[in-house]
Amino acid sequence: MTSSGSGPSRAALVRGTWLVSSTADGVTEPATFRLRDREWDLLPGVFAPNYCESTAFFTESLPFPAGGSFLEVGCGTGVTAVSAAAEGCTRVVATDISEAAVENSRLNASRHGLSGRIEVYRGDVFDGLRPEDRFDLVFWNSPFIDPGAGAAPARVQDERREGLRRAVFDPGYRAHRRYLAEAGTRLTAGGRLLLGFSDLGDHDTLHRLADEAGYRISVLRTSGDRVRGIDYQLLELVPSDD
Ligand SMILES: C[S@@+](CC[C@H](N)C(=O)[O-])C[C@H]1O[C@@H](n2cnc3c(N)ncnc32)[C@H](O)[C@@H]1O
Repeated sequence: MTSSGSGPSRAALVRGTWLVSSTADGVTEPATFRLRDREWDLLPGVFAPNYCESTAFFTESLPFPAGGSFLEVGCGTGVTAVSAAAEGCTRVVATDISEAAVENSRLNASRHGLSGRIEVYRGDVFDGLRPEDRFDLVFWNSPFIDPGAGAAPARVQDERREGLRRAVFDPGYRAHRRYLAEAGTRLTAGGRLLLGFSDLGDHDTLHRLADEAGYRISVLRTSGDRVRGIDYQLLELVPSDD
């Protein structure tokens, strides 16, 4: 089912469109959900980990650096960032382009008594960070579907749906390009760069962007049969000259 650079697969468009619609229609008021033995706040318009298995899979698969620093790009509800702090990262920074996601992550940091250890900023990819910020682990559970020309444009003035579309679709992989091109300047010496992707993503384009940015891709873990219908892939971007 892997998409091959010639536009999104039909499966990717169907799944992405379903996820946006079902979450937009299903979460119209602040709500809560349970994941990883904790209760979490969920705001309308924010990627909902109870509608999609990727958050749980990546969060349990990430090699959080105990005593080290962690940057989560695109933090959504903040499940991964809060888990990183709870599991021993001493400095956790989370960013998201969505104001609702920033608010949601702050709510969950507070709910779990970890506000003092998690900074949350609004920004496009690495915008919002201080110039000197460096991390031992950088991760993004990315909007890995490029909708190509096939996806209907979002309705104007539907902020909730637009926020959800940005959580699922990255037109032209523009944000992926930035992530790969700029991440190197955000890593400590020996720091690791990871990406949450899936077989619904365009692997040919991702490999090309990684190559242009000086990385090769190594598959750390896949969800395989554990998740029905989609294979989530935790990828590491390894400098090509390593
Ligand atoms: C697949 S969701 C993952 C959310 C959360 N990390 C999780 O696992 O539940 C992708 C997230 O990336 C955010 N996002 C999309 N484009 C972005 C960009 N250019 N810069 C920062 N965040 C972005 C979305 O708002 C969304 O919260």
